[in-house]
Amino acid sequence: MQLECPSRFRWLEKQSVRESFAQDVALGLSQHPRRLPCRYFYDAQGSQLFEEICSLPEYYLTRAEHQILERYAAQIVGQAPAGLSMVELGSGSASKTRLLFSAYLQFHSRLCYVPIDISPSMLEESSQQLLADYAGLEILGVAAEYEPGLTALRRLPKGPKMILWLGSNVGNLHRTEASGFLTKVVSAMEETDFLLLGVDLRKDSQVLLRAYDDAQGVTARFNLNLLARINRELDANFQLDAFRHQVNYDEEAGRVEMYLSSQRVQKVQLRRLGLEIDWQAGERLHTENSYKYSPAELDRLVHSTGLRFLGRWSDDQGRFALTLLTRS
Ligand code: AVI
Repeated sequence: MQLECPSRFRWLEKQSVRESFAQDVALGLSQHPRRLPCRYFYDAQGSQLFEEICSLPEYYLTRAEHQILERYAAQIVGQAPAGLSMVELGSGSASKTRLLFSAYLQFHSRLCYVPIDISPSMLEESSQQLLADYAGLEILGVAAEYEPGLTALRRLPKGPKMILWLGSNVGNLHRTEASGFLTKVVSAMEETDFLLLGVDLRKDSQVLLRAYDDAQGVTARFNLNLLARINRELDANFQLDAFRHQVNYDEEAGRVEMYLSSQRVQKVQLRRLGLEIDWQAGERLHTENSYKYSPAELDRLVHSTGLRFLGRWSDDQGRFALTLLTRS
């Protein structure tokens, strides 16, 4: 694609991400209990379905975080000096980030945006629109997975950074993995840098179950798309109507769990892998965990990484938290 404002866009890093989808599927479907990494939801169809989830009435997360940013974006970026680079982990369509751009560009003439995303095409597409909408914006694209993306930040011109990790993406990591990954983020930060972290909070189980099992069945389609993707890419013959979307909330662990449950005894062939998988009736494939945090769990997570709170904001109903953190 030809960018309209080429001088204001360049690649800081462009890796062709070679996912080990085939190996991970072979491993995940052969073990008991069966499980697959949730990052494989996001092929073109899955990303489209996720966008739909974000505007569902039951999926309050996106709206709650949007409300916080609408109200407090000026306070958040007000703490940042001139010459800021705003780095976003998993930038996607960058729709919420716009609120931060507008707030920052009210006080400063220039902002460097550094989106990190595995999809170079998604990155170029959203950059095109952002550059057309914000005259003061420059974009340094990083097409890579998170960890090599963080390494690429060492090549940013010197200056203050604000790293954004929004959307409660941290919730898709086990609590100890979340702490481990955030520690890596911290090591990519200078003393004066900031981290803006969006986290979904613990709440009534019925609200959570509805958010992950919506009335229109969009989340069910999102979950089942994983099987459709295996059919498309690995020449498999999953019958999608022989599996059902299932959601559980484990109150003690504080996590929503998503599964695909086999509705009958069946065999599935994955021809590209030379595999045949036997399913029992009711046997489940675990596809995602989404951890929710209490204020105390959030404190523990932040302190385990050596970070310190500069600010903490919530939506009207106290469903979601946005925290501004620093190393110093
Ligand atoms: C991307 N992630 C934070 C979403 C979540 O809420 O855990 C993914 C999702 N799964 C089902 N609905 C949304």
